[in-house]
Amino acid sequence: MAYKDEQLSEEKVFKDPVHRYVHVRDRVIWDLIATPEFQRLRRIKQLGTTNLTFHGAEHSRFNHSLGVYEIVRRIIYNFHDRPNWDPDKRLLGLCAALLHDLGHGPFSHSFEKVFKLDHEQFTQDIILGDTYVNAILERVQPGFSQDVADVIAKTYSDQLVVSLISSQIDADRMDYLQRDAYFTGVSYGHFDMERILRVMRPMEDQVVIKATGMHAVEDYIMSRYQMYWQVYFHPVTRSAEVILSKIFKRAKHLYESGYTFKLEPTHFISFLEERHDLEAYLKLDEAVVHYYFQLWQEETDPILSDLCERFMNRRLFKYIEFNPNKQLDAWMELHALFREAGIDPEYYLVVDSSSDLPYDFYRPGEEEERLPIHLLMPNGDLRELSRQSDIVESISGKKRTDHKLYFPMDMLEKADDAALVARIKNILNIQGAVVDAE
Ligand code: NI
Repeated sequence: MAYKDEQLSEEKVFKDPVHRYVHVRDRVIWDLIATPEFQRLRRIKQLGTTNLTFHGAEHSRFNHSLGVYEIVRRIIYNFHDRPNWDPDKRLLGLCAALLHDLGHGPFSHSFEKVFKLDHEQFTQDIILGDTYVNAILERVQPGFSQDVADVIAKTYSDQLVVSLISSQIDADRMDYLQRDAYFTGVSYGHFDMERILRVMRPMEDQVVIKATGMHAVEDYIMSRYQMYWQVYFHPVTRSAEVILSKIFKRAKHLYESGYTFKLEPTHFISFLEERHDLEAYLKLDEAVVHYYFQLWQEETDPILSDLCERFMNRRLFKYIEFNPNKQLDAWMELHALFREAGIDPEYYLVVDSSSDLPYDFYRPGEEEERLPIHLLMPNGDLRELSRQSDIVESISGKKRTDHKLYFPMDMLEKADDAALVARIKNILNIQGAVVDAE
């Protein structure tokens, strides 16, 4: 039997807290899960620093990837004998679902920003490069790895397959919302996925929703909206994220200025030099990053050691609501006063802005361009969701942005010049009530 059709003699199941079971029958899927590149995802947390806010959020990218695979498996099972669905695309959809986050690294968000990397590029490189994953995909059929990479990059010719993992109601979002809600323990993020799966229908280039399923979809959109503001953009998580970014930034600055680390940061060299190095990237996981943070607490550079000690012991920055575009004078003054107090504002006075677009109808050419959700009306017509749903209409196309200013209150308390500290505190308090990052 051809490798692509090979089935395991017995179905394998993974026990999963969100989907109960993840079912694997295809030899190809089983082999992909066993590769070092995929196993590496066990050592990358799905939510980065969120566990410093919601202690349950220790789940990995491995969990999530299996979950997305399982949802796509169920969708395709339902599509099986429907018009518009090409059964030959089954394995392609499953592989793309399983591998869609393969290029994520430790604390992707901060890491990528400082070292100018892109996890999507690494996903492509792992799938197409000289890797175990690539060897398996090419065994399916020469060129198959390119197809999988194209589906994940959204450039594949059959957009119906693409929409299973990248649209405004895709398996990726449906998994992470439920999974992140489960592990953080929040009461948002839940919606009736079973119902949504039952009303999904394949069309030429997209998955549409039978109009009778509209309310389940409304619930899903609202749950996403709430998860963003209650969990993903939580100000305390962002405080840890800010410190993390500054650690990477400081390490890079020190490296570039010829600083001698007590132990050569071997695992980071290629990133510090801004080289795109797949081999080094695959060796990096959160354990390695934490190991260096432990070491760096002992460094002679006071900024690096202080930031690492803060991150490891969760001594986070405090914050106020602050928009530097609107409060430019206060921003400039704070900068100057921090310098005067001997606290480097480059590392200790940080504005973080987060924004989300809960649902969008259509913005051609914009970043994050995603297909709108279409309802399939009883007469066979398609109707864009926000035209039919008042709830969705009320939040569609509305981008909300939140600006916070982060700083170490404990450092200010310790500064010698009492008058100076009083001036700083005065400005901070006038701008907004100081909140403990606890
Ligand atoms: Ni994902």
